[in-house]
Amino acid sequence: MTDQTPVCRRLVGRTAVITGAGSGIGLATARRLASEGANVVCADIDETAGKAAAAEVGGLFVKVNVTDPDEVEALFKAAFDTYGSVDIAFNNAGISPPDDDSILTTGLDAWKRVQEVNLTSVYLCCKAALPYMQRQGKGSIINTASFVARMGAATSQISYTASKGGVLAMSRELGVQFAREGIRVNALCPGPVNTPLLKELFAKDPERAARRLVHVPVGRFAEPDEIAAAVAFLASDDSSFVNAADFLVDGGIAGAYVTPL
Ligand SMILES: NC(=O)c1ccc[n+]([C@@H]2O[C@H](COP(=O)([O-])OP(=O)(O)OC[C@H]3O[C@@H](n4cnc5c(N)ncnc54)[C@H](O)[C@@H]3O)[C@@H](O)[C@H]2O)c1
Repeated sequence: MTDQTPVCRRLVGRTAVITGAGSGIGLATARRLASEGANVVCADIDETAGKAAAAEVGGLFVKVNVTDPDEVEALFKAAFDTYGSVDIAFNNAGISPPDDDSILTTGLDAWKRVQEVNLTSVYLCCKAALPYMQRQGKGSIINTASFVARMGAATSQISYTASKGGVLAMSRELGVQFAREGIRVNALCPGPVNTPLLKELFAKDPERAARRLVHVPVGRFAEPDEIAAAVAFLASDDSSFVNAADFLVDGGIAGAYVTPL
């Protein structure tokens, strides 16, 4: 931000729980929501990264494995006990391990691990957050899916894609079920994001990067800040009529047939 950048303070007094806050999209979102005035609860399985994120944004760190129901319950309770409300749940932690690949080579272990971390976790986090939001009569839940929930890839990560399809359908259903209680639930569908992992992968193999970039109308991957800005919008009252949406932030990938040269 420059000195001229208008400061958006849409989340003053709100409490946001962010899973996977130690890195990538989660970290960028912790910074953004804190800058908009929210109390931020940084949840991560990685204690070092999660603690650093919380310290940076002046928030609370809670160590959690998002696949564990008791730990997830304790996470939302800690948020409520510390700050007095649970207004925003950004259920974002996820993995994409190399042993999740083509259906022909992906074993049941990898399949189940990815389903647990990417999909069961979102079920657990929504289940834990909703009662607080019901009591408040308001809340915004944002679940991280992916553009691959909407489009097929010849470079398959079969369990990852299926897990994100599940996140999309579950978010839509919850958005419909709880709408009249003042709770909105949206699925965020980022396109490929310039994270350290992606950079390393594509630096090693430029052909792999080129093969993907040709499909992106804007000709580049997203920066984590650009995804965080979309989360801040979905978390705030500016999106008060956005609900049960597949919220694509993908630079136009899902809308493209032919892209510019
Ligand atoms: N990076 C992309 O290009 C991209 C694109 C679309 C969707 N997504 C999705 O966005 C989300 C965040 O991705 P990212 O690129 O920022 O990833 P990342 O690897 O940079 O960060 C993920 C964080 O989640 C934490 N985490 C992993 N397993 C956990 C568990 N069991 N319990 C608690 N925390 C756990 C990690 O420690 C890490 O801090 C994921 O759901 C991912 O699938 C990413």
